Amino acid sequence: MKRVIISGVAVEIPQASITNDELVESFNLWVDAENPRRAEQGLEPLAKSDAAFIEYASGVKNRHVIEREGILDPTRMSPRIPVRPDDVISVEAEFGVASAKKALDHAGLRPGDIDLVICAASHHQRPYPAIAIEMQHALGTKGAGFDMGLGCSSAAAGLHVAAALVRAGAHRRVLVVTPEIITGHLNFRDRQTHFIFGDASTTMVVEALEEGETRAGRFEVLDTRSWTQFSNNIRTNLGYLSRNAQEDPYMIDMDGNMIRQVGNKVFKEVTVAGHRFIVDFLGEHGLRPDDIRRFWLHQANARMNAMILKLSFGREIGHDRAPMVLERLGNTAAAGAIVALSENHADMKAGDFGLLCAFGAGYSIGGALLKMM
Ligand code: COA
Repeated sequence: MKRVIISGVAVEIPQASITNDELVESFNLWVDAENPRRAEQGLEPLAKSDAAFIEYASGVKNRHVIEREGILDPTRMSPRIPVRPDDVISVEAEFGVASAKKALDHAGLRPGDIDLVICAASHHQRPYPAIAIEMQHALGTKGAGFDMGLGCSSAAAGLHVAAALVRAGAHRRVLVVTPEIITGHLNFRDRQTHFIFGDASTTMVVEALEEGETRAGRFEVLDTRSWTQFSNNIRTNLGYLSRNAQEDPYMIDMDGNMIRQVGNKVFKEVTVAGHRFIVDFLGEHGLRPDDIRRFWLHQANARMNAMILKLSFGREIGHDRAPMVLERLGNTAAAGAIVALSENHADMKAGDFGLLCAFGAGYSIGGALLKMM
C-alpha cells in the first residue's frame, strides 16, 4: 500500500457577489408583486424575508455567484446561463478547470502527470459525457475521468475514493474537482432556502509518495471515512424522469423540483451525527479533538459548526481552530470545506493534525484525517 498526500489544493471564486440586503430586497419585491395575485385566488399571503434573520440564523452575509443580474431581477430570480454549443466547453467544466489549473500549479505538476479526474459535486450539468471527461479533455490529463455525487459531502467522498485508488496503486495522481454552481438549482422564491447558497469551485491533487519520500508543507492523508443515512430533509426531485409526470413532457415545470430542506431538522440531526462522526473517527486513530490543530468543517451554518465543536471538545472553540468562510461566500455545497482547507493551512507546522469533515444531503458525512509533513 502506498502513502497518499494532498499535494495541491486551490479555489476558484466567481467575481460577482450578492449581499443579504440585495437578495432580500429582490425577494420582497417579488412578494409584493405576488401577494395581490394570491389574494385574488384566496391564498395566504407570502411572508417577507429578512437580512437580520439570515445573518443571525446562518452566519451568511454575502455570497459569490456565477451570474448576478438574473438572480436579483424579481421577475426572474434565477441566474441567466446561456446554452453553449456542444463544441464549446460547458459552464461547469470551465469552472472546474479554473480551479484544477491552480491546483496543478500549487502541486508543481503538469496536466500530463494526472491519470484520473473525478468530478465530485452535488450537481452535474448533464449525465453524459461525464463533466470529468470534458475536464480531462480541456486540461490534457491522461487516463480516465468520472463523475460522482454525494450532496455536500461530494468532495470528501471524492477524496475517499481518490485516496483509496492511489493507496492501492490503481492510479498515480488524481484530481478531485468540485465545481459547485448551486445557484443554478436554487429556488430564489423560497424564503427558507433563497439565502443559503453561493457558487465556488475547488480542486485537490491526490498523489502517491515514493518510498522514503517526504513533501514538506503538504498533507499526508492518514485515513478517510464516509457515512450515510437516508433522510428526505434535504431533497431535490429534479431528474430525467421529472418530465414524464407532466401533462406536456416537452415543457419543463420546475415546481417541486428544486432544492428544499427542513433546515431546523437538518440542523439538529446532522449536528449530533457530525459530532459522533468526528469523535468516533478520531478515536479509531487514538486521537481526541484536542489533538487536532485545525478543523475544516462543512460551511452550511456558523451556529451548527460551533455546536458540533462544543459537543466534541466540551467547550467553545474559536475560528483559528475551525475557520469559517461562509460569512463571505455562503454555503458553497461540497466546495465549502475545501475552501476552508485551501485558505487555512499555510501556518500549520510539521506533525500537526487536521480534520476535514463535510456533511449534508443524504444524510452524508465525509471525513479525512490529515497530517502536515
Ligand atoms: N426571513 C425571515 N424569517 C425566516 C426566513 C427568512 N428568510 N426563513 C425562515 N424564517 C422564519 C421561519 O418561518 C420561522 O418562523 P416561525 O418561528 O414564525 O415559524 C423562523 O424563521 C425560524 O425558522 P427555522 O427554519 O426554524 O430557522 P433556523 O433557525 O433553523 O434557521 C437555517 C434556518 C436554514 C439557517 C438552519 O436551519 C440551517 O442552516 N440548517 C442546517 C442546514 C444544513 O446544514 N444543510 C446541510 C448542508 S446543505
